[in-house]
Amino acid sequence: MNTSRRNVVVTGAESGIGAACAKIFGEAGDHVAILYHSDGTGAEASAEAVRQAGGEAITIQCSVDDEASVEAAFTQAETARGPASVLVNSAGINMSGIPVREMELKIWTRMLATDLTGAFLTSRRFLRAIPGPGAIVHISSIHAEAVRAGGADYCSAKGGLTNLVRTLAIEEAPNNVRINAIEPGMILTPMNARAIDDIAYRKSLEANIPMKRAGRPEEVAYLARWLASNEAAYVTGASIVMDGGLSLLQGVGA
Ligand SMILES: NC(=O)c1ccc[n+]([C@@H]2O[C@H](COP(=O)([O-])OP(=O)(O)OC[C@H]3O[C@@H](n4cnc5c(N)ncnc54)[C@H](O)[C@@H]3O)[C@@H](O)[C@H]2O)c1
Repeated sequence: MNTSRRNVVVTGAESGIGAACAKIFGEAGDHVAILYHSDGTGAEASAEAVRQAGGEAITIQCSVDDEASVEAAFTQAETARGPASVLVNSAGINMSGIPVREMELKIWTRMLATDLTGAFLTSRRFLRAIPGPGAIVHISSIHAEAVRAGGADYCSAKGGLTNLVRTLAIEEAPNNVRINAIEPGMILTPMNARAIDDIAYRKSLEANIPMKRAGRPEEVAYLARWLASNEAAYVTGASIVMDGGLSLLQGVGA
């Protein structure tokens, strides 16, 4: 796969890890389709960051949980630039914090629709148009493996994503399309807004991380860029943990 001037689609690209991915791919001169979900304000800022970095950008509204919206967004991106060879799927919502006994079905359904069905819909649409080799990078979570009380919705969605990645990897290996996931720990994005605004709270969380700090969205983006590059040409079906050592402590404390 040519590592320069690729067409890249990034979901959830108006915020956090997705925005960082868009910018980092922009640094490589890529054409980035910034798929956004909210009012578009963040998307315009992401697009400007891509351009400042040396790439090109278009912004397209997309709800990843909606088949018709995904179809329309990819069609719009293809009309503008042609099919993409890289998809970064960063769209997602945070865990509800609600125990299963008390969880309403709509909470569960919304999470699965966004974090798992969204990955299915965007991957499927991307693969249906890809003209040759390529790569998908899904932003999963350490909670794909490390469960947390109150996180059944999120842990189930991300756990399912692990096996979507593994299944897609063997299906698409003959086409030289590689599918991988990144499993971040605590990253300072709007999903962790309280940790950004409240330093004491943040430090109390960071004390539990072996590296004693939260990660930055750009650090996730650098791994995404590497996974989508020829340097990772033999990597597929992997879920790579990036958490400052946090998930290594699961067995500690009892
Ligand atoms: N921040 C962390 O600590 C952390 C840790 C592990 C995994 N993650 C994962 O990283 C990914 C990005 O999260 P983030 O931290 O950048 O948070 P964020 O809230 O900054 O970004 C999430 C993005 O997803 C978009 N989105 C939400 N619902 C959508 C929908 N239905 N359709 C399309 N887009 C939708 C939002 O608009 C937003 O742009 C998520 O999948 C999240 O689960 C984050």
